[in-house]
Amino acid sequence: MSTNKGLALVNKDADGVSCAFRDDVLTGLAQDQKAIPARWLYDDAGSQLFEDITKIPEYYPTRAETQILSTRSTEFAEHIGPDRAVVEFGSGSSVKTPLLLEAITPAAYVPLDISGDFLRASAAALSQKFPDVPVYPVEADFMRQVQLPAEVADMPKLGFFPGSTIGNMVARTSVDLLRTMRATLGAEAQLLIGMDLIKDSAVLKAAYDDAGGVTAQFNLNLMRRINRELDGDIPVDALEHRADWNDEYARIEMHLVAQRDVAFSVCGTTFTMKQGETIHTENSHKFDRRTSQTLLLAGGWTPVQRWLDDEQRFSLILAKATVPRSAP
Ligand code: AVJ
Repeated sequence: MSTNKGLALVNKDADGVSCAFRDDVLTGLAQDQKAIPARWLYDDAGSQLFEDITKIPEYYPTRAETQILSTRSTEFAEHIGPDRAVVEFGSGSSVKTPLLLEAITPAAYVPLDISGDFLRASAAALSQKFPDVPVYPVEADFMRQVQLPAEVADMPKLGFFPGSTIGNMVARTSVDLLRTMRATLGAEAQLLIGMDLIKDSAVLKAAYDDAGGVTAQFNLNLMRRINRELDGDIPVDALEHRADWNDEYARIEMHLVAQRDVAFSVCGTTFTMKQGETIHTENSHKFDRRTSQTLLLAGGWTPVQRWLDDEQRFSLILAKATVPRSAP
C-alpha cells in the first residue's frame, strides 16, 4: 500500500484548532440566515450517528442504493468492464464498495478521504476482502483536483461517488466537483454516482426527521462539536432539529431552531438568535431523470446508464467523461 501524504493536510492554528472549521463557523453564524457547511457534521461522533441513521427504518437511501448494487452486478460488469482503477470519493462504506468490486474485477482500488483514520480503516478492510486488488489510499480533500498514485496512472478509471453525497452541494458547487473529478480521473474515465430521487415530501421529511430522534442527535452533535472544539457555550437544549422540504430547490434542509431568544459565544465572539430563528446545517438535494442528467452534463459527464431500486426511490447513474466538441 502507498499513501499520498501532504496533499491536503488540515490547517491548524497554534492551539491545534482547525482553522477551516473555526472560519466556517464564525462566518456562518455572522450571516443573517445562520448556516454551517454540512461537512462539519462528520466528526467521530457525527460519523457514528450517520452510520446509525443508515439503519433506521425511515432512512431508505442506503438500503435502496445497496439493493441496486447487489442486484445489478451483471450489468455493471457489462457496462464498466474489467481492469479499471476504482477511485472512491469519500472512504468506502463497508457494504457498498465490496458489492461494486465484486461485480467488475477492478485493477486497483483508490479510496480518497480527508480523514486519514477512516481511510486506513476502510483500506485495510478492503485489502483483506480483496487480496488480489492493490489498494492505494490517498489522504486528500476530493473537492480539489487530486494527483493519483503513479501505480494507477495508466489505468482507465471508474470514479465511485455513492450515497447521494452530491446532493449536499448547491448546483454550482456540485458542477465544480464533477469537473474536478473529471480532471482527477482523466479522459477515458467513467463515473458511477448515486443520486436520491424526488418523491412524496412526507417520505422525505420522515427520512430526515426519524421518530427515534437519531437525525436530531446527528444535527445537534454539530453544536456539541462547536462547544468542544471552538470554546463555545451554545445552549444545545434550546435548539430543536427540523427537516423542511424546500420544493423550489428540490431539497431537504436541516435546521436547528431556537426555542427561545438565546445568546452564546464561540471563540470569544458573541452571537444571538431570536426565538424561531434557525441555523441551517445541511441541504440534501433530490433529483429526477432530467435534473440529474443536466447536472452531470454541466459537470462534463455524459450519462450512459441509470438504475433504480425496485421501489424507485434512488438512482445510480453510470456516466462517461464527455468528449469535448466544438459544435452541437
Ligand atoms: C450522507 C449526505 C448522503 O444527505 O442523506 C442523513 C446525510 N443527513 N440524514 C443525506 C444525512 C441527515 C446524507 N448524506
